[in-house]
Amino acid sequence: MAEPSDKINRPSKTPSDSRVQTRFLLMPNQANPFGTAFGGAIAAEIDMAASMAAQRHAGGPVVTAAMDTLQFEQPIHIGDQVVLDAVVSYAGRTSMEVAVEVYCENPQQGRRALATTAYLTFVAVDPQTGRPRPVPALVPQTPQEHKRYEEAFVRVQTRQHLRRRVQGGSRPADERSAGAEVEVLRPLMRREDVAFRGEKLSPEGRKKIARALRTLHSLELMATTIYRLQIGPERTELNRELIAAMCNELTHWQDFQTQLYEYGFRPSPLRFFWQAVGVVFGLGSRLAGAKWILKTGIWVESKAVEHYSRLLEAAAWEEASRRMLWKNQEDEQGHIQTWRRLLKEMEAQGKSRRKEDSDGSE
Ligand SMILES: [Fe+2]
Ligand SMILES: [Fe+2]
Repeated sequence: MAEPSDKINRPSKTPSDSRVQTRFLLMPNQANPFGTAFGGAIAAEIDMAASMAAQRHAGGPVVTAAMDTLQFEQPIHIGDQVVLDAVVSYAGRTSMEVAVEVYCENPQQGRRALATTAYLTFVAVDPQTGRPRPVPALVPQTPQEHKRYEEAFVRVQTRQHLRRRVQGGSRPADERSAGAEVEVLRPLMRREDVAFRGEKLSPEGRKKIARALRTLHSLELMATTIYRLQIGPERTELNRELIAAMCNELTHWQDFQTQLYEYGFRPSPLRFFWQAVGVVFGLGSRLAGAKWILKTGIWVESKAVEHYSRLLEAAAWEEASRRMLWKNQEDEQGHIQTWRRLLKEMEAQGKSRRKEDSDGSE
């Protein structure tokens, strides 16, 4: 069931809209000489169930882009019923992650156990052009769906990070830290990472890119400032999330600053005005309390997502810039999910506390 979501003109679906639950009986031709399931046969069934869920979410054809490692916790025997539960756990712009839980069930022996969990990535394709096409946003509804979404988001980021590391290859700087696990927000920027951009753009096209980059650069500075001022000294889950969000905004801000200079532009002098707005929102919401911190986050991030959508359409972006914009927009959607989840949890806690109070006073 598609519906408009987050005021970003993007249709959305819930995980249950596309969930696929299916089962089959493990036959001898799907087993190894020891009478247990042949891994390849199960992998094929997983791929099938997951691709059906992805097709239902995308509303069209999809291709499998990746399947994470499969580890069987339980052997599946000939004659067992194999139950597959495939659910879309995360949706990016054109790709989706589907989580598939595989259970082996034996009604005669009253046995049911989780055999394995698999995570697959699919890309929706346009049947005419064969090119990736946008998919609806995923809107988790239940606490379990929110948790699954958050975990999938971490896996998606990790896969992207690994891919970038592998594509970047080894470099001398890595040798300096050999043997030591070094965690960095951004890999070291090398001269060959800098690209001079926009040479083929018309003066009008350059103007549009400059306007869009300056707007986003200023907004990211504002977002960084808001989160920076919302962070309190307490070791709470909220402060942990706020620090993470601030760091993500810093990387977005850096992306736009980098691209501005690569195109030969300079940041907007108006950015200081937006930074001042950030101070007002950040301090104001912190003084008003945790609920207002979360509400401010949801509102600001929804505006950011809208801006990204509008500016993505507004100019003829180079592929690298477009990918960066999509990635940052996805990050903002992740922030919205986090703040919504925390707000829901806070409201639920408040409700149960009020109930306890009223029960106690009766
Ligand atoms: Fe951002
Ligand atoms: Fe954000």
